[in-house]
Amino acid sequence: MDKIRIRGGRPLEGRIAISGAKNAALPLLTASLLTDEALVLRNLPHLADIATMTHLLAQHGTDLSMAGAHPGGGHMGQVLELRAGDITSTEAPYDIVRKMRASVLVLGPLLARCGQARVSLPGGCAIGTRPVDMHIRGLEALGAEIELDDGYIVARAPGGLRGGTVVFPRVSVGATENLLMAATLAKGEVVLENAAREPEVGDLANCLNAMGARIEGIGGDTLHIQGVDRLHGADYAVLPDRIEAATYAIAAAITGGKVELLGAQSSTMEAVAAALGQANVSLRPTECGVMVECGNSGGGSSGGGDRWVHSIDVSTAPYPGFPTDLQAQMMALMAMADGASMITETIFENRFQHVPELMRMGADITVKGATAMVRGRGGPGGPGLHGAPVMATDLRASVSLVLAGLAAEGETIVNRVYHLDRGYERLEEKLSGCGADIERLTA
Ligand code: EPZ
Repeated sequence: MDKIRIRGGRPLEGRIAISGAKNAALPLLTASLLTDEALVLRNLPHLADIATMTHLLAQHGTDLSMAGAHPGGGHMGQVLELRAGDITSTEAPYDIVRKMRASVLVLGPLLARCGQARVSLPGGCAIGTRPVDMHIRGLEALGAEIELDDGYIVARAPGGLRGGTVVFPRVSVGATENLLMAATLAKGEVVLENAAREPEVGDLANCLNAMGARIEGIGGDTLHIQGVDRLHGADYAVLPDRIEAATYAIAAAITGGKVELLGAQSSTMEAVAAALGQANVSLRPTECGVMVECGNSGGGSSGGGDRWVHSIDVSTAPYPGFPTDLQAQMMALMAMADGASMITETIFENRFQHVPELMRMGADITVKGATAMVRGRGGPGGPGLHGAPVMATDLRASVSLVLAGLAAEGETIVNRVYHLDRGYERLEEKLSGCGADIERLTA
């Protein structure tokens, strides 16, 4: 199993190209099932989860062809043409779904296109039980007959799905996406209330409209979809990954460096920019993306003000709030801040797996229920963190250990980096390109 070795203490300086968003690419790939015409997707990141999804779609009968890298050069991701001309299987097997929860996003499209689907229940993962009850209830509200059999969701809608209103009891990105895709081919109008407003949901809606869907209210928490008889192909580019961009913003901050995030969209990072601004880290839009630098008060390399990271309190929330996918990374930063901070996780019930590993590096963290109290080790005269062998447990927890390693004194070895490969394209390359001493050790 591969490991990553980091020798910390070097400020990051330079530019990092931001890849296409994993959490937009995954639902966009499943949207190809809604039409028998070609869907061309551009700026797809090279990630393990993307490969898993293409494998799942191929076993449904989708033809895939790599339409070559983007002519704009390496960092513009891969181009894929998908054509689900003839769906040969409406079953999503356990051995694929258990590897990647997002596989459940084939449920809505298969039901809408074929009138049936048999999709394995995704099961839980490190961060929580992650049920799919809202996906199921929502589809039943549109006329689907669904039962659970032997660990599978068995769904039927022989006469097609009908219009109706779905009110989500809590905000769910995946349930919104499954229902949105199913609704595009329903007979009548579908209204989704308390829908997720994440930019990745908007990206999916915009692509579906490019395929001939009729979706209104994009970006808001109520979506209106007029069902149509069929969708056609489209050519669509995936939006940049705001979580990857924010992760590298924290990498710049935790090392006291200055990095330009190429292609990052500041409009999707407002809650992050506000939080980091309070922590004395500035995110400034540039022509090519977003510039990140320590020292809001002009305390960057141009002198003046202090350059220390200040402690702040953070509570995760659905978009446009502070993203749960950045909670672990923010905790690593607060471990190097100049005071005490409270970090509260409101979305998942078990998303503090990174805490014991950060503590092995000297972080001072106390967890009480959904809140972690972090006593920062940075600031003038602070003891800082020290390198250690640590274990990755889930995607974002893994990257928080890399961030801590970049700031720690000495050597950090991160084990089980396959978690990282699910969501971060060429991480070592992007960081070493800005001066980090980071290397992948292949077992
Ligand atoms: C998406 O997961 C993302 N994954 C997650 O990113 C992200 O953390 C999450 O949204 C929240 O923003 C993808 O987009 C592929 P939810 P999803 O449905 O859709 C509960 C990463 O690191 N819930 O918004 O599965 C659920 O248990 C990943 O890139 C139900 O109770 O998340 C959770 O507590 C991790 N019943 C909360 O809602 C349901 O039917 C939010 O989950 C569905 C969800």
